[in-house]
Amino acid sequence: MRVCATCHAPDALGADGPPLLPLKHGAEEFLQIARGGKDMMPALPAATITDDEIRSVALYLATIKAPQ
Ligand code: HEC
Repeated sequence: MRVCATCHAPDALGADGPPLLPLKHGAEEFLQIARGGKDMMPALPAATITDDEIRSVALYLATIKAPQ
């Protein structure tokens, strides 16, 4: 909500950034993308969000399903 929802929307279904559901990445790959950035997505520094917080987002997304 604090960091990722700005671009990926509060429901993780995408806004300026693409939808993060259904989750296509494991927690460590997810961490690499968020930490290192990807194309149009900016790299997010540890001061903005910690590694553990990013892993928690991935674990959370893995527990929910996109609405049909
Ligand atoms: C400033 C806007 C912005 C923010 C903030 C942002 N993202 Fe992104 N994100 C993007 C954009 C744009 C892309 C598409 C990148 C591309 O061109 O492939 C993306 C792509 C991704 C992808 C790859 C999607 C895929 O299926 O290939 C993941 C995973 C991701 N973001 C996770 C996160 C996480 C986790 C956070 C919060 C820690 C976050 N993003 C914050 C804009 C953002």
